[in-house]
Amino acid sequence: MNLLGIETSCDETAAAVVEDGRTVLSSVVSSQVDLHARYGGVVPEIAGRAHIEALLPVVDEALAEAGCAAAAAADAGLPAPRALGAVAATVGPGLVGSLLVGISAAKSLALAWDVPFVGVNHLEGHLYAALLEDADLPLPAVVLLVSGGHTLLVEMTAPGSYRLLGRTADDAAGEAFDKVARFLGLGYPGGPAVERSARDGDPAAIAFPRPMRDEGLAFSFSGLKTAVVHYVRDHPDVPTPDVAASFQQAVVDVLVHKALGAARRSGARSLCLAGGVAANGPLRAATLAACDAAGLRAFLPSRSMCTDNAAMIAAAGYYRLASDGPTPLDAGAVPGLAFPVTA
Ligand code: KG4
Ligand code: ZN
Repeated sequence: MNLLGIETSCDETAAAVVEDGRTVLSSVVSSQVDLHARYGGVVPEIAGRAHIEALLPVVDEALAEAGCAAAAAADAGLPAPRALGAVAATVGPGLVGSLLVGISAAKSLALAWDVPFVGVNHLEGHLYAALLEDADLPLPAVVLLVSGGHTLLVEMTAPGSYRLLGRTADDAAGEAFDKVARFLGLGYPGGPAVERSARDGDPAAIAFPRPMRDEGLAFSFSGLKTAVVHYVRDHPDVPTPDVAASFQQAVVDVLVHKALGAARRSGARSLCLAGGVAANGPLRAATLAACDAAGLRAFLPSRSMCTDNAAMIAAAGYYRLASDGPTPLDAGAVPGLAFPVTA
């Protein structure tokens, strides 16, 4: 079955068609990053308006690329093109004004085409990056989901079956990158800016703390961010690349140490990265090296699959539809939706 997925939870407007939850037929992403850059972060009102402008062209492009002439059919009031079996959209977590744009569009298309609507948890969506790109991924897998809003360690035993192993007590890893980049004047989005600056720095120059490194599977990044601020205030002449590289090294150390510990403890066969921070080069290299040493299969998603996209939403929607059936059309956006623990 071909499923149209729609993602508008934050600052990417995305649509994709995925076959049987596994094969990506099209995946179109329109990023708003330039619109928000001058404010140093996502402005919710601007994001919502930009989704409204971008969504239908993005959906049209995704359908055309996948060979589904749905847009023309809808315009002409014709029944659903046979090619599409359901429409999924992210229902949370995210910005309410942004979520509502994708949800309303998905419900309208589902109604017009007379196919089921499926509401998808954005965090669950991120887990499917691995299965979309590596169909033979050995399960159970431990997934380190590191994005701008979330830092989670999840054990995935099968599609739809998850155990939450750890999460951040305060800032998400990506949020720490964004805040440190802003403080250092490196620009927005912060993660890539810190990574770029760090290339010219020494990761061992400053011994920043490794928060909660050896204390279970919970994370904490706000103290590290504060440590960076204090260090720079006390050492105004320190080269910025050294601060960026040392901060990045501290985050990577903690993430990889905990993810490996989680994989070992739970007996996982593979360790996957997911979410925007999974695009970070040093994190990818350290994960690969640690998995090699531990005899674990590492899965590193492609850059386009790390950041927000609708293919992952369509894949998660396929499995949700199979297990839970359609989502009622009166279901709304859930900005604070928690990760769906099932095991
Ligand atoms: O998953 P995502 O696209 O959106 C959310 O759902 O949050 O993740 C965005 C986050 C931002 O905090 C961004 O700074 C971070 O991912 N990020 C990175 C890198 N690329 C994006 N962090 C570190 N290194 C990168 N190369
Ligand atoms: Zn995300």
